[in-house]
Amino acid sequence: MKTLKVALLGCGNVGAQVARILLEDASELAARAGAKLELSGIAVRNIEAKRDVELPRELFTTDALALIADADVVIELLGGMEPAGELISAALASGASVVTGNKALLAVRGAELGALAAANGAQLRYEAAVAGAIPILRPITDSLSGDRITKVMGIVNGTTNFILDAMDTTGAQFADVLAEAQALGYAEADPTADVEGHDAAAKAAILASLAFHTDFDLADVHCEGISSVSAADVAAAADAGMVIKLLAIAERLEAGIAVRVHPTLLPRKHPLASVHGAYNAVFVEAENAGELMFYGAGAGGAPTASAIMGDTVAIARRLVADAPVIASGVRGSQPALRFDQI
Ligand code: HSE
Repeated sequence: MKTLKVALLGCGNVGAQVARILLEDASELAARAGAKLELSGIAVRNIEAKRDVELPRELFTTDALALIADADVVIELLGGMEPAGELISAALASGASVVTGNKALLAVRGAELGALAAANGAQLRYEAAVAGAIPILRPITDSLSGDRITKVMGIVNGTTNFILDAMDTTGAQFADVLAEAQALGYAEADPTADVEGHDAAAKAAILASLAFHTDFDLADVHCEGISSVSAADVAAAADAGMVIKLLAIAERLEAGIAVRVHPTLLPRKHPLASVHGAYNAVFVEAENAGELMFYGAGAGGAPTASAIMGDTVAIARRLVADAPVIASGVRGSQPALRFDQI
């Protein structure tokens, strides 16, 4: 069986979980991918930093470029514009495929990096960049590619959904709930990108580009955050049978495709109104499929690592000529359960 060298850049919450899965589930992944996925190294700034998962010390290096030079697949989990952009470019230029969750970079340079991948026969995949564990980019690009999407509407930032949900259920003010979100580790230490909508706007640009086959970047997205939403606004919405959610919306209008992020009044019976806490959901409307909804964990180490691993296996399958999907399972006996309670 062929071996593919997988280089990991970054070992924070998500990176540590990706490394764990690559090491712990190696044989199952190989059966599904059609190739061994060998973790060839982990590039970090500080080798001695404390990490969530205990990993062999010999895997760590500070020389990301040397690691990339020897890799078939590069997983970029550094975040931010640089050095992530430079390292992804180097990987793609060398013909290595790249998996990344870097929404900030993709929202500005996604089209350019996609073209670089295509020019070098490499793959660039980024399911983890929007809504963490939720499979949404591949359904939009693959499953719905024979349909015409008319609207995508999503709760794609868990921190702001946690805050608005807590304001709705407790009547608290924005600032008090933000402090709670920070204490629980949902919000960033500097939560500006979350509460001012910039994180959701980056995700909206990615969703819109894929759903409407057009290059949208961050500058094309109208963006308003939730920092000025008051307890009185939330109470007034509740009195009217509504809930306030921060939505990323991309839709086909007569004048063209509009992409925006802003606090939105939703009727309580709308499926997106029932998304609570730090969860994410994306609601899609397509001409033939009708309405679809995708729901799940939008952040966190293991959930985001799940999306990264899905992309990694997909890359491997293409590199080794489509490994069979039904390959490694074990059949159990089927219990006969009627009216079982879930
Ligand atoms: N800060 C982001 C959120 C993390 O709250 O959803 C996931 O992109």
